[in-house]
Amino acid sequence: MLSTHSIAVVGAGNIGRALIGGMLTAHELETSQVRATRRSPGALQDLATAFPGIQAGHDNRQAVHGASIVVLAVKPQNAAAVIEEIRDAVDDDALVISVLAGLTTEGIAAAFGRDLPIVRAMPNTPMIVDLGATALAAGSKADEAHLGLARQLFEAVGKVEIVPEYLMDAVTGLSGSGPAYVYMFIEALTDGGVKQGIPRPQAFRLAAQTVYGAAKLVIESGKHPAILRDEVTTPGGTAIAAVADLEAHGLRTMLINAVATATKRSSELRELAPRG
Ligand SMILES: NC(=O)c1ccc[n+]([C@@H]2O[C@H](COP(=O)([O-])OP(=O)(O)OC[C@H]3O[C@@H](n4cnc5c(N)ncnc54)[C@H](OP(=O)(O)O)[C@@H]3O)[C@@H](O)[C@H]2O)c1
Repeated sequence: MLSTHSIAVVGAGNIGRALIGGMLTAHELETSQVRATRRSPGALQDLATAFPGIQAGHDNRQAVHGASIVVLAVKPQNAAAVIEEIRDAVDDDALVISVLAGLTTEGIAAAFGRDLPIVRAMPNTPMIVDLGATALAAGSKADEAHLGLARQLFEAVGKVEIVPEYLMDAVTGLSGSGPAYVYMFIEALTDGGVKQGIPRPQAFRLAAQTVYGAAKLVIESGKHPAILRDEVTTPGGTAIAAVADLEAHGLRTMLINAVATATKRSSELRELAPRG
């Protein structure tokens, strides 16, 4: 159970902070079980104010010492230096959970210089409002219990899928980068409404709620999106006229290609990622 662990979040920025909020709320952890680091004194003060009782500081070694779970949540470009700094302060049986985009479990183990249990996570930013989509992949030393702990951590801030590690680039292209595509969709839908005379604030609220509601209906009804689309498209009506227009302009192909492009970029970044 996660609630029996002491957890160090190294690099408590957007992702790390959302995880801290989620685990404190969902798993009834004592704040004293959570340590968090970052560099900016002002931001550390904010963390301490937002989560009174957690150990927030800038000393990464002190934070990971004795922690049973270490979450690596710095930016990938800071990872090599941070791992170098903490590598001999992390316990041998500590579970390392990495949200670092592009770094493999093998690369992280090499950077630590030993085979720690490592779980790699690819979350997305809607986790900030507890609606994240996270994929988890276990490294060679991580067993079902380790995956279970990581699952509990990320389920506090959304939904979790377990995938083999070779799919992490694809997951980055789909759900990791996906919020950016959806924001563009909402923005464009808003402009569509504005073009037809709807005041922008109202068009924006209608567009965002339409995307939110449609996604919720897909998830809660369990129906295939094509069935739900058929239910909105009256013969000879408005929706089918617009659907035909979207098909003519290749919306589906555009999205399939967008995921492929982001997947390819993720694999390129992985090749460039600093190694141990
Ligand atoms: N954002 C996304 O959509 C997303 C999605 C999936 C995965 N990720 C991954 O999540 C990780 C974090 O992303 P983010 O968006 O949360 O970035 P972020 O907000 O910039 O957070 C990174 C944090 O690391 C801290 N940091 C940097 N160097 C440090 C050091 N030496 N010691 C301690 N803390 C240090 C920074 O603190 P200071 O600012 O105080 O220096 C900052 O708070 C990245 O590796 C990214 O690949 C992000």
